[in-house]
Amino acid sequence: MVSKAWEALFRSQVYFRGQPVGTIAAYDHASEEVLNYDQVFVRDFVPSALAFLMNGEPDIVKNFLLKTLQIQGHEKKIDRFKLGDGAMPASFKVLHNPIKKTDSIIADFGESAIGRVAPVDSGFWWIILLRAYTKSTGDHSLAERPECQKGMRLILSLCLSEGFDTFPTLLCADGCSMIDRRMGVYGYPIEIQVLFFMALQSARSMLKEDAEGKEFMDKIQKRLHAMSFHMRSYFWLDFQQLNDIYRYKTEEYSHTAVNKFNVIPDSIPDWVFDFMPLQGGYFVGNVSPARMDFRWFALGNCIAILSSLATPEQSMAIMDLIEARWDELVGEMPLKICYPALESHEWRIVTGCDPKNTRWSYHNGGSWPVLLWLLTAASIKTGRPQIARRAIDLAEARLLKDGWPEYYDGKSGRFIGKQARKFQTWSIAGYLVAKMMMEDPTHVGMISMEEEKHMKPVLNRSFSWC
Ligand code: GLC
Repeated sequence: MVSKAWEALFRSQVYFRGQPVGTIAAYDHASEEVLNYDQVFVRDFVPSALAFLMNGEPDIVKNFLLKTLQIQGHEKKIDRFKLGDGAMPASFKVLHNPIKKTDSIIADFGESAIGRVAPVDSGFWWIILLRAYTKSTGDHSLAERPECQKGMRLILSLCLSEGFDTFPTLLCADGCSMIDRRMGVYGYPIEIQVLFFMALQSARSMLKEDAEGKEFMDKIQKRLHAMSFHMRSYFWLDFQQLNDIYRYKTEEYSHTAVNKFNVIPDSIPDWVFDFMPLQGGYFVGNVSPARMDFRWFALGNCIAILSSLATPEQSMAIMDLIEARWDELVGEMPLKICYPALESHEWRIVTGCDPKNTRWSYHNGGSWPVLLWLLTAASIKTGRPQIARRAIDLAEARLLKDGWPEYYDGKSGRFIGKQARKFQTWSIAGYLVAKMMMEDPTHVGMISMEEEKHMKPVLNRSFSWC
């Protein structure tokens, strides 16, 4: 299965003037609708890149980082509105002209994407990948190049600028990351916050402390500090915390308020009371004024562990929850992108009646094999590789036979997704990365960060909430 996966991964490589610069999202010729699956997506390339790095083939990763950096310099406009200079593309496509024998690139910054949303995650993934490349190869010269330093600063200035914010978290539109359709992930979604946190940490380890870099370092440091407090206190949910929210008073004013965001206990959905185990916990999907999105999101929680945004205790609690709620979160195919699905009236209101995101399908509670690498990395980091082993066994029973689908549908992830592509590259690469990390756990270091001493002491909830 591993050699078949490598074959498929190599076949998905995209070349620009003879050099590999990325991997196509899906190599599914059987599907009539190509849409934009013939492009190199920044987020989709991450697991491919990690697989290549682990296999001792860093060139494609370096080419990708430099090519996307060049694309960052393209003019980006949606109608008459110009996007920020730092914005990174969601995807790009190489156009081959067989007559002139030339290659050119067209990129999408959201102006072609369904819903016209800019991918906030792309820039973060780019910085995270630059660190992974540097860690894995020991080659610091790439990150030290003036254009890479500038690229990082441009990305960071988009999110570190001063505004009207009262929270250190990043405010964004619906559909600006892996879930790229309307799914009620606007505001302060967990996925963006953890990627932001990890990108800040990665940048801190690579930015030069020269005149331009120094100013950023200071801002990064302060933001990391504020973010870890905010996320660890207000996004964290466990049995005790749930019980506290359930008993909240509302309409509190002033600094003594316990219920700072004025969350109305009646807005807690019924399912959470059954879902929450006595031992275990997780970072909820979103926190903003009078709104807590209690849904579980897999990517956000795994990256919280890898980036050490989660304290060691919280990391353990997340893994406890995954074990305790295995049937719901893993079922027959790792791993649910989010839990639970939106249904009926809620689905109509929140997704705008999206026929692709019906209950337990696609982004709405579908199971995405790509997430296997994140679960594996988190399991290894927390010293619980048996969790990853169990998940890999499930994936091995089906993935190859089913033709590496993009996602599975159903409450337990039993059915190949309604509109899932086959030979979806990140399903293939995610599997390979999971396998290689299990064989050599030191690979996890590329994508994992240790807790900073100064972030301690670990927050005590009764202190942070009272
Ligand atoms: C879908 C997914 C997105 C992915 C893209 C390419 O749009 O929602 O996360 O990057 O397909 O695979």
